[in-house]
Amino acid sequence: MTYDFTFGLYKSSVNIEQDVPGLEAVLGAAESERALLVCDTNTAELAESARGAMAAAVCVVPAGEADKNWQSVEKILRAAAEAGLDRDGLFVAVGGGVVSDLCGFAASVYKRGAGLVIVSTTLLGMVDAALGGKTGFDLLGIKNFAGTFYPARHVYMPLAALSTLPPREWRSGLAEIIKTLVLDDSLYAAETRGRLLALKPALDGEGVSAPLIEAASRLIERSVTVKGRIAEKDPEERGGERALLNLGHTFAHALESAAGLGRLSHGESVAWGLARACVLGEELGCTPPERSEAIRAVLGELGYETQAPHPALADGGAFMRALKDDKKKIGGLFHFVVPALPGACLVTIDPDSLGLVEKLSGLL
Ligand SMILES: NC(=O)c1ccc[n+]([C@@H]2O[C@H](COP(=O)([O-])OP(=O)(O)OC[C@H]3O[C@@H](n4cnc5c(N)ncnc54)[C@H](O)[C@@H]3O)[C@@H](O)[C@H]2O)c1
Repeated sequence: MTYDFTFGLYKSSVNIEQDVPGLEAVLGAAESERALLVCDTNTAELAESARGAMAAAVCVVPAGEADKNWQSVEKILRAAAEAGLDRDGLFVAVGGGVVSDLCGFAASVYKRGAGLVIVSTTLLGMVDAALGGKTGFDLLGIKNFAGTFYPARHVYMPLAALSTLPPREWRSGLAEIIKTLVLDDSLYAAETRGRLLALKPALDGEGVSAPLIEAASRLIERSVTVKGRIAEKDPEERGGERALLNLGHTFAHALESAAGLGRLSHGESVAWGLARACVLGEELGCTPPERSEAIRAVLGELGYETQAPHPALADGGAFMRALKDDKKKIGGLFHFVVPALPGACLVTIDPDSLGLVEKLSGLL
């Protein structure tokens, strides 16, 4: 299945297919002759299988968020220079969101912008990180402190890669799917709920069957369409609709950093943040109670933590400090995206009313 998007000046196509694409086909589609494959230690085998018999250089960065840093960017830029890549060369990221963010950033600055293709190999990468052009790396202890907008020309989503994905990564990606499907109201359809619940064995480490991959592929298709169409309307997140993609994220980021970065996966935090956004939206009269209940029920059935306070939240003070530091604060007001009818809406809270957020987070 192929989807075409336009993000500002850039055209981006998404291919959801069974297998990891061969490099020859990737080069052909991008009309390029030379490539650098960029992967991490866990996706090196997938990159090798993409390379096949071709003579392309491979740059392997360490796996994980801890190495989403300048050192990894520099390693990629050096590898590209050593491989003799020119501006018409192609950076091919093979991996999850860490690899695609790093490689995307490197491609965007290499000789003022080389070609970029992403072969996304995690569920979160497919439904979120690989699409829409945000690149970046962590700096000064702040996630994604430095980055660019640089959409990939082609994004490949090989479903076969999901068969080796650990349960925690399934759980992480699925939370973003649920969030995205709230935005286009498709979450509330019985068919969607059935597909979401079909993924439970993967979340619980009970293996990945063909019907499960089929359900995942339908959810990925839907998420790609929803995220892509929203990002098209506001390609550089200049205060438009794209902010809605942050549904639940103000709570999630505060939880993630208060629990200690890396303790909870991003998706686990997003799921809890989404549940908190539901109760905040209800409290403010924006979220119909039946929507709030439906969202929290599906999160609960899939085994996400939805209760407040979150068990990993030992230090409520750290949570509130992180929330107050959040970059989504504009003009002194705190921004939250909450489910609504339809989709979701942005609400602002002034600093004097933060007690409500503290209460709904189970901290008062
Ligand atoms: N650019 C964006 O718009 C955007 C959006 C959301 C998230 N992100 C970024 O994405 C990152 C998170 O992405 P992620 O969850 O994919 O993390 P990740 O890239 O760290 O991948 C998670 C783990 O899975 C491993 N892995 C990757 N593919 C695998 C496979 N097929 N089988 C087995 N293991 C595999 C990785 O090596 C890693 O250990 C964060 O840095 C976040 O900031 C970016």
